[in-house]
Amino acid sequence: MARRRRGRERIVVGLDVGTTKVACLVANVFDSEIEIIGMGTAPSRGLDKGVVVDIGRTIQSIRKAVEEAENMADVKIRSVYVGIAGQHIRSINTTGTVAITHPGRVIKRSDIRRVIEAAKAIPIPPDMQLIHVIPRQYKVDGQEGITDPEGMTGTRLEADVHLVLGSVTAVRNLIRCIKYLRIDVKQIVLQPLASSLAVLSSAEKELGVVLLDIGGGTTDISIYKGGDIWFSRVIPVAGQHITNDITVGLQTPIEEAERIKKEYGTCLVDSVDDNEKIEIATIGGDGTKLVSRKRLAKIIEARVEEILDLAMEEVENAGYKDIVPGGLVITGGTALLDGIVEFAQARYGLPARRGQIPQGIHGLRDIVESPIYATAIGLLKYAVEFKDLEPSRESEGGWFNTVLKWLRAILWGG
Ligand SMILES: Nc1ncnc2c1ncn2[C@@H]1O[C@H](COP(=O)(O)OP(=O)(O)OP(=O)(O)O)[C@@H](O)[C@H]1O
Ligand SMILES: [Mg+2]
Repeated sequence: MARRRRGRERIVVGLDVGTTKVACLVANVFDSEIEIIGMGTAPSRGLDKGVVVDIGRTIQSIRKAVEEAENMADVKIRSVYVGIAGQHIRSINTTGTVAITHPGRVIKRSDIRRVIEAAKAIPIPPDMQLIHVIPRQYKVDGQEGITDPEGMTGTRLEADVHLVLGSVTAVRNLIRCIKYLRIDVKQIVLQPLASSLAVLSSAEKELGVVLLDIGGGTTDISIYKGGDIWFSRVIPVAGQHITNDITVGLQTPIEEAERIKKEYGTCLVDSVDDNEKIEIATIGGDGTKLVSRKRLAKIIEARVEEILDLAMEEVENAGYKDIVPGGLVITGGTALLDGIVEFAQARYGLPARRGQIPQGIHGLRDIVESPIYATAIGLLKYAVEFKDLEPSRESEGGWFNTVLKWLRAILWGG
């Protein structure tokens, strides 16, 4: 049944293919207001540390999440914005410079394109491709902080750009799974970028802030300053590793380890009473045993400490430790772990908080308020408001997109 559409209303779909779950959100977008009208989730079976390793199983998981969302929203999903992560992701800040020589020296769209091309002109290994080209700022004759130089007068135009690269194989495999379901990929979006759009305020991004999306298989790091993204990285340790440690440490099945982590887990060892015991299942039998909750907390604390240290080491190595007065924002499913915010705050002496979904999101708000859906919501926000100069789908788009690009260039000069 067709939905009745208002004026400039449109349907936008965010698909988060995570290591532990696939989440699909369908939204009605009117101007920049996002109303979530459908959601679907499915356990994710074909990924390892954020990357598709089994196409058949990934397709099954995506299909289930998509069908559920379609049924709830009563729409047929034809295209999606999809997130990508994994250790293959690289990001780099570059600068491009061009001279403005035409009469009057008024900067045109074509000059902006030229300067971006110059900033993009870095050697890219053949097994990597550009995923994002994000302009951070422009400078006209040395004057900084310009967001759109079109129409300004000057002789030298510079652009500071954040480039995100990813493995061609990882991108292709993800796209293949979605295309198999006859769904078009509008854009591949870096997961940390998507999460940041969902949970960071513009004030935080201005001040300087580190966002950690600690999911199941990956911890995604992004750093913002002066309103712009400065750094993004994905490291392959997260919540699943905590669960694995509990499995080994307490000799219990993985499902049981997952359950007790969520139910009794904390990374504040000192907050747990020495004598407190919990009943857990034993491996390979139907028996149960009593274990100390403090022991559970110690196992969790050790791994959380390692994950956070690795993430903060990346921040420090990149030279950004001192530019983040906004502190740490933690999101992703592992942000739900008891005490993780307090632990991070104490360990790094930085203000820390759990990511909250911002204003402007309506509809199934109570359901999607969980940090587990930060990436999926961020994908919707990306679709609605983000300025990206490299729609990465074009690299997979084949002849049709090439012709389209070519026609666009002839008709509109762009
Ligand atoms: N209440 C909780 N306490 C502790 N951990 C939790 C809780 N709820 C969920 N988690 C953990 O969060 C993780 C899943 O988070 P999320 O859904 O963000 O991951 P994902 O997007 O599937 O994976 P990734 O982003 O790493 O590819 C799992 O490891 C799960 O155990
Ligand atoms: Mg995730």
